[in-house]
Order: sequence, then structure tokens, then C-alpha cells
Amino acid sequence: MIDQHIGVQEYRKRREALLRSLKGAVGVVFAGEGAPPLVGRWTPHQHFYYLTGMKAEHGAAVLFDPKSPDPTNRCILLLKPRDPETEAWEGYRESISAELRAKTGFDRIRRTDLLPRLLLGAARRSKRLACLHPFSTHKAPVSPDLAVFREVAHRIVGVSIEDQTDLIPSMRAVKSRAEQGLIKKAIEATSAGLEAMLARLEPGVNEAALQTVLEATFREQGGTGAAYNPIVGAGLNSTVLHYNDNDRVANDGDLLVVDAGAGYGGYASDITRTYPVSGKFTKRQREVYSIVLKAQEAAIRAIKPGVEMHEVDAAARGVIEKAGFGDFYIHGIGHHLGLEVHDATPLGPLAPGHIVTIEPGIYLPDEKLGVRIEDDILVTNAGSRNLSAAIPKSVEEVEAQMKRARTR
Ligand code: GLY
Ligand code: MN
Ligand code: MN
Repeated sequence: MIDQHIGVQEYRKRREALLRSLKGAVGVVFAGEGAPPLVGRWTPHQHFYYLTGMKAEHGAAVLFDPKSPDPTNRCILLLKPRDPETEAWEGYRESISAELRAKTGFDRIRRTDLLPRLLLGAARRSKRLACLHPFSTHKAPVSPDLAVFREVAHRIVGVSIEDQTDLIPSMRAVKSRAEQGLIKKAIEATSAGLEAMLARLEPGVNEAALQTVLEATFREQGGTGAAYNPIVGAGLNSTVLHYNDNDRVANDGDLLVVDAGAGYGGYASDITRTYPVSGKFTKRQREVYSIVLKAQEAAIRAIKPGVEMHEVDAAARGVIEKAGFGDFYIHGIGHHLGLEVHDATPLGPLAPGHIVTIEPGIYLPDEKLGVRIEDDILVTNAGSRNLSAAIPKSVEEVEAQMKRARTR
């Protein structure tokens, strides 16, 4: 019921930290509605998963009621009521018991049909309702906690609704030792996937065959498969940022962009390498590749606590603009990485424990030539550590790795 990679105590500590940060305000985090689909998996809202480690409890919620006089009622897990008809389809569920409380790390577990009454009591005591779920754009449905809080505020006098949507992202951004360990495992699985893929990379191979090797190796390494749709694009496809048809032939003379990351224990890696299909970069490919690499190294050097991502972006952009390719670097420098490949983004600058991707690129469709290089970087007290540094990326290292892979 609880993901074992992190451990029930760490989930409990996360909830205790959030309860303190709420400073007396009421919060609710919803898993989200749904049912296990026939294809793929139902996944909870990642804020809920981060606080509980529960993957399959659709309809569940956690209620934070910091002003409850009974300390065991300040953080309550609400699970959907048991229903024999549904259980016959979706699997059998447990009754609420001391065993379930121990297993989940919650001192109090109730059923979701009690939420309205519990929330009424919490709101009357606290008078402050804190939005924890990310706000939606005005085109999308209102976030689930704000929708409920608006109804509550219509029914009680003197209640205010406040924006605390940065609380969970700023917690999620700082990766614990256990989380860092899982992301390192995901990166190792990605590295093994790229190595295995290179043994198959030669002119005439289909991008799909390369993707198959990548994903099979991710799983063989104990990972959960790809953490996102892999991008395996040769020639013109190397210039398409989120290309995922992955069904064309890679030809002699093409560059191949491979943006693929394994998942491991719920966490994502996100790595990009660019390979010459022939095994040797042409002069032009080497020229563009070297500029992207120099830009990436400049961005990585700019990372330290207190720096904003736009400053890291400027370090890379400066190198690319100086080389005359400013108009061909058309995306941002990177993003936070964690439970989600594009992980929750906290407000403010980088801090120790954050893990971000650094992924500049130059895309020249007229030349059918795209280059992106992406690594996963841990922010440390002293600056940063490249968690994917072991995956070859200089021109010489890449050519040598390809030669080795092909002669094995
Ligand atoms: N693979 C998607 C990204 O790099 O952001
Ligand atoms: Mn990527
Ligand atoms: Mn990325």
C-alpha cells in the first residue's frame, strides 16, 4: 500500500513538516478521482503521493486540522468507504485497524464520507483555509481544494482562503537522501540503456528499435521503464523538441538526439545525448555540438544556492548567442526533476538538495541538424554535483563509446 523505497517514517515526517508550515491553517490534499484504466495506470496527484506513498487510493485525501484539540486528529487519512461491488473489480481493500494505521503511518484514518463534517469543524476552529494544490488556469477546472473551500466559505462566517500553493513544491524540491538515491538509480538505469542502445546504433536502424532496447534495459536494471515518452530522433527529427513518433530510419550522416530517462522507485531521470549515426561527427556537427556542450558546462558552473534558473539560462544563452546561434536555442535551460520529470517548481532561487536538469540545445531544421545535451544536477552547499557525469558527452568520449559499443 505504501511505496517501500522511501519508508513510512519519511512520509510521516513530511506530513509533520507540512502541518508545522501551515501555522494553524487548514489544508486538504486530494489523491484525485478515477478508476484503474484498461491501458496504463491510474496515478494520484503527486502532492498526495509525496505525503503518503500511496499509489492506488483513488478518491482518498489527507486533511490537516492543526487546531484540533486532539493531536491525533491534526492529520487524518481519509479513504473511500469499502464497497464489495467495486472491490470485486478493483481488488480487495482493508478495514480500518491498528494494523492499517501502522502500515500507513497515520494515527487517524477515517472514511471520505466524513470529510464535509470534519472540514466544517476544522474551518470553524481555524478560520483559515490554505490552498495547497496548484492553481489552475482560467480555462481549466478550479483546483480541488479551492473548489471545496469556496463552498465551505459560503457556509461559515469569517473564514478566509489563502494561497499556500508554494508550501509543498518547496518541500518536494529539496530531495532527501533516499530520494537522491532513487534518482541516482534511475540515472544508472538510463546510462545502461544508452550503452545497450549504442550497440544497435548503425546506419539503417529504425528509431523504434533503439527505443525498444532503451526501455527493455531500463526495466532489466530494476527501473519501472521510461519516466516519460522517449525522444529518439535522427536527422530532421533531431530538431523536433518533443518528437515521439520514433519510427523513422536513422541514416548515415544524421545526428541522433536521444532524450530518455528511466524511472526508479517512483522517481524520474531525464538525460539527453546526441550521437552521430555513423560513429563520427562531421566537421559541422562537431562545431555545433561543441557550442552546445560549452553552453551546458557554463550553465552547470553557474549553479549554486541562491541563484535563479534565469541566471543559469543566461550563462548558456550567452555562449550560444556569442557563437551566432541565439535564434536556434528556443527553449528554457531546464526544470526541477523528481517524482515528475517536470517536477513541482518552487518559488525563489536554487537551494541545496534541489535537482534540476540542464539541457541547452541548438536546432537547425534547414540543415536537418539538432543537438541537445541534458544532465541532472544536484545543488549542494558548495555549488553543484552532476549526477549523470558518468555518461560520456565530449566529442571524443562519445566517439570512443560508440566504437567500443559497436565492437563488443
Ligand atoms: N524530456 C523532456 C525534457 O527534457 O524536458
Ligand atoms: Mn529530457
Ligand atoms: Mn528535461
